[in-house]
Amino acid sequence: MRILITGANGQVGWALKQLARKYPQHTAIALERRDLDITCKDAVNQTIAKENADIVINAAAYTAVDKAEDNAESAFNINRDGVDNLASGCLNADIPLLHISTDYVFNGKKTSPYIETDPPNPLGIYGHSKLAGEQVIAEQLNRFIILRTSWVFGLHGQNFVKTILRLCQDRSELNIIADQFGAPTSATSIAHCLLQICDQYNNDIAMPWGLYHFANTPDTSWHGFTCKIIDLAQKYNLIDHEITVNKITSEQYPLPCTRPQNSCLDKDKITKQLSITLTPWEEELETMLMTLSQQL
Ligand SMILES: NC(=O)c1ccc[n+]([C@@H]2O[C@H](COP(=O)([O-])OP(=O)(O)OC[C@H]3O[C@@H](n4cnc5c(N)ncnc54)[C@H](OP(=O)(O)O)[C@@H]3O)[C@@H](O)[C@H]2O)c1
Repeated sequence: MRILITGANGQVGWALKQLARKYPQHTAIALERRDLDITCKDAVNQTIAKENADIVINAAAYTAVDKAEDNAESAFNINRDGVDNLASGCLNADIPLLHISTDYVFNGKKTSPYIETDPPNPLGIYGHSKLAGEQVIAEQLNRFIILRTSWVFGLHGQNFVKTILRLCQDRSELNIIADQFGAPTSATSIAHCLLQICDQYNNDIAMPWGLYHFANTPDTSWHGFTCKIIDLAQKYNLIDHEITVNKITSEQYPLPCTRPQNSCLDKDKITKQLSITLTPWEEELETMLMTLSQQL
């Protein structure tokens, strides 16, 4: 099966490109922004046709959550209009679209994990633009998967794990938010999930298309995540001194875009309907840090 991947230089796009090599039944056409700008409708249509794609995975997005507050036009241009181009390109070619969305479509006021049918209510521009992207897909296509995920980390690109490692190089004390909850999720596990979905489609299993929540397990806070990052980084000699991690509240660390306090996603639907197995983020994190230590 020919899988066209957009945004191939991002965290998830890169992981998709790496992991696809392990699926001999698939040919990945991994395109970075310079190869295919999803905001260019003609280029999207021409590329899908020229590459003879059987399915598209969209890993391209505007992901700068805080900057989006002052750059709504760019955020909507990529996360809504670019996605609209991909959906119409897939419609023209009569192929499905797999797309990634976010926990930030919710306002975080629910007191239990969010299910797919919970009404979205984003707190910021990024969340609004991603929600608009979900809507343009559902309006145009019958055959799509939207995977909402959270707190993405991985070897390639910028993420929270790398920020913590960098801060620890010259600090012995960190103040980390302890009242926002969610699930760190490795780019690799998202890529694996998407490629398994491609496999199911390839094998002609009747696909339950639609919206799904996917993340690693269990839920934690940024503080809990940070403590584990530091533990494992010390184990793999990426940090060579003790770090004190103080708990702070969201109010003590104001950002341009308010984050949801509860980002926890209920993953029941994806495990039951798509038979996806969930992996612990701690294992994924350990693999990442072990690989980083081997690269030193
Ligand atoms: N990061 C998170 O914590 C998080 C959490 C929940 C959901 N998500 C979702 O997960 C998906 C993947 O996120 P990620 O962390 O992998 O993002 P990322 O690392 O920021 O990668 C996004 C990629 O999209 C590319 N891109 C931007 N505009 C484009 C355009 N017009 N045409 C083609 N490519 C374009 C970027 O290119 P450049 O390299 O040239 O900038 C970048 O390589 C996104 O849909 C995001 O909304 C992310």
